[in-house]
Amino acid sequence: MKKVGKGEVVVLLDEKWKRCIIHTDDEPRKIKGFGVVYPKKLVGLSYGEKTTLGTKQIWVLPPSAYDRWGSLKRKAQIILPKDAAQIIVNCSIVPGNIVVEGGIGSGSLTTILAQIVAPNGRVISYEKRRDFMDFAIKNLVNVGVADYVKVREQDITSGIDEREVDAVVLDIPDPWGAVEHSWKALKVGGSIASYSPLISQVEKTVNELKKYPFIEIKTIETLQREMVVSKYGTRPSFDMLGHTGYLTFARKVLKT
Ligand SMILES: C[S@@+](CC[C@H](N)C(=O)[O-])C[C@H]1O[C@@H](n2cnc3c(N)ncnc32)[C@H](O)[C@@H]1O
Repeated sequence: MKKVGKGEVVVLLDEKWKRCIIHTDDEPRKIKGFGVVYPKKLVGLSYGEKTTLGTKQIWVLPPSAYDRWGSLKRKAQIILPKDAAQIIVNCSIVPGNIVVEGGIGSGSLTTILAQIVAPNGRVISYEKRRDFMDFAIKNLVNVGVADYVKVREQDITSGIDEREVDAVVLDIPDPWGAVEHSWKALKVGGSIASYSPLISQVEKTVNELKKYPFIEIKTIETLQREMVVSKYGTRPSFDMLGHTGYLTFARKVLKT
């Protein structure tokens, strides 16, 4: 049975599936929902065994990509896995890719993308607000993906410095302002994705995309419904996230 070692990064998962990332070398600290955690005391525990932490029962596990995402602190509205999955597939983002992102927010999408492009690819994230940038960087360092991300304190609607990038992903209030820059930054065949909560934003973005050589322009919305399985039967959950955002995609060519 593999045991937790010194200097390892682990995830603590409670019975309500709340999780946090811990570096076993860290000093004791209070973690919301977990109380005071003594990271060094985790060394020697068996991965996967249930153990007591204060008044809680928890599992100690090696962190998965989802654990890293689920351990982030949140500040701005984040992109959820159901939408991130669509971005990854529709933009064909694979290991080794260079992906430009604007803006970083809490670093939620960044964390998912960084784990896809790692170890040789990079996410280059444009963020115009220093407070969000600092907050997101702390998050990225804590969950262990900072090595795969370069953060620029820059307004993405003023320009993108990179060229020949595989994808540009926009989660800003005025994505149409970055469409021309995205076309210039993308390699031929590369994709742009834009996430917007409002239809009016989608319309402005699509109209802007149509001014440049972009093809395969499409907008989708992803709805996700959880199923509850009990001894009495199976039904959809009463709770459903009504709306997150619309996703618009397009692909760069030289001429339409
Ligand atoms: C909704 S948040 C992004 C959330 C992020 N996608 C996530 O999953 O955590 C929007 C971010 O874009 C930043 N932003 C807005 N306009 C921008 C621009 N023109 N250039 C760069 N960043 C911008 C905001 O400061 C904010 O941090």
